[in-house]
Amino acid sequence: MRAAYYDRRGEARDVLRIGERPTPTPGPGEVRVRLATSGVNPSDWKSRSGLTTSAPLAEPVIPHSDGAGVIDAVGDGVPASRLGERVWIWNGQWQRANGTAAEYIALPSVQAIPLPVGVSFEEGACLGIPALTALQAVRLARLGESSAVLIHGGAGAVAHYAIQVARRRGARVIVTVSSSDKAEHARAAGAHATVNYRTEVLGERIREFTSGRGVDAVIDLNFSANAASLPAVIRPHGRVVVYGTNDAEATVPALWLMRNSVSVLPFLVYELEPEDRRAGLVELSDLLTSGTLLHAVAKVLPLEDVAAAHELVESGRVVGNVVLSIG
Ligand SMILES: NC(=O)c1ccc[n+]([C@@H]2O[C@H](COP(=O)([O-])OP(=O)(O)OC[C@H]3O[C@@H](n4cnc5c(N)ncnc54)[C@H](OP(=O)(O)O)[C@@H]3O)[C@@H](O)[C@H]2O)c1
Repeated sequence: MRAAYYDRRGEARDVLRIGERPTPTPGPGEVRVRLATSGVNPSDWKSRSGLTTSAPLAEPVIPHSDGAGVIDAVGDGVPASRLGERVWIWNGQWQRANGTAAEYIALPSVQAIPLPVGVSFEEGACLGIPALTALQAVRLARLGESSAVLIHGGAGAVAHYAIQVARRRGARVIVTVSSSDKAEHARAAGAHATVNYRTEVLGERIREFTSGRGVDAVIDLNFSANAASLPAVIRPHGRVVVYGTNDAEATVPALWLMRNSVSVLPFLVYELEPEDRRAGLVELSDLLTSGTLLHAVAKVLPLEDVAAAHELVESGRVVGNVVLSIG
């Protein structure tokens, strides 16, 4: 089969290749998916470049965990009724060498989720990481009808879904952005207010938004940069949900957090507990079936342009998801 792969870590253009790789056969309990799309996420370029892990590769890696396509073969124990099913994929390349940047992937049947009619393969390639991360972040934030939440990086791929899920809980949502285009994108997803974190004083805007009380929860994608602002934004007993940090170490206002009983809850979407995974999948399925979820596919490139796709995501210039189409 045709696939994108790398056999050493490094810059996208130096290490990513397109070529032939063995077509997988589904093992017991597995399905094989003929892929139509492959979603590119920040963690894909971070592991390819060696930023998050420098461990030598035991075998060539076909990158990307997200993708969508049609089941074309099933292994022992998987009902034949799954053949021909349109599906989206989660954890496609988590702790496995063969991800979704290929014509085929074989993986456990439970990781191929039915894609409702009306949801495109491009949109299906945005769900495994961005949408499930957003759902878990909002779940951990425990938002209710009268909650106020600050979502950092409101135009990001995860945040775009998190805003919508938080609104669904009835929460009031304020987000940080760095430009008017990004503010517009976040508002279109349902944010009530936006703060330009580069030009405005965040604490002042939060005080206005919450009548001086502070938000009930913060959902953060860059904890090492944003932790210092917590005393100015969150109320006592609030919850800080962390799904990203640009630096491995962060300086936190530890004494203030303790005195105010503020919880800090980091998590990794690849490693959700089964109960959380189940809850996310059920809610996402409802949202997709209802047709109310907005997706943000920013750019679709052919598989051959995998290096350009990685560079785009790495640049941080794209508003929304970058998806590869596999012809
Ligand atoms: N823990 C997990 O399981 C998990 C899951 C998904 C993603 N992540 C991580 O979460 C991060 C975001 O992922 P994504 O796919 O949403 O990325 P994305 O689509 O590239 O969005 C990132 C957004 O964050 C903004 N941003 C960067 N630094 C910021 C800061 N200090 N304050 C406010 N906004 C800031 C960027 O815009 P400006 O630079 O213009 O502000 C951009 O809009 C990545 O680091 C990713 O690796 C982790």
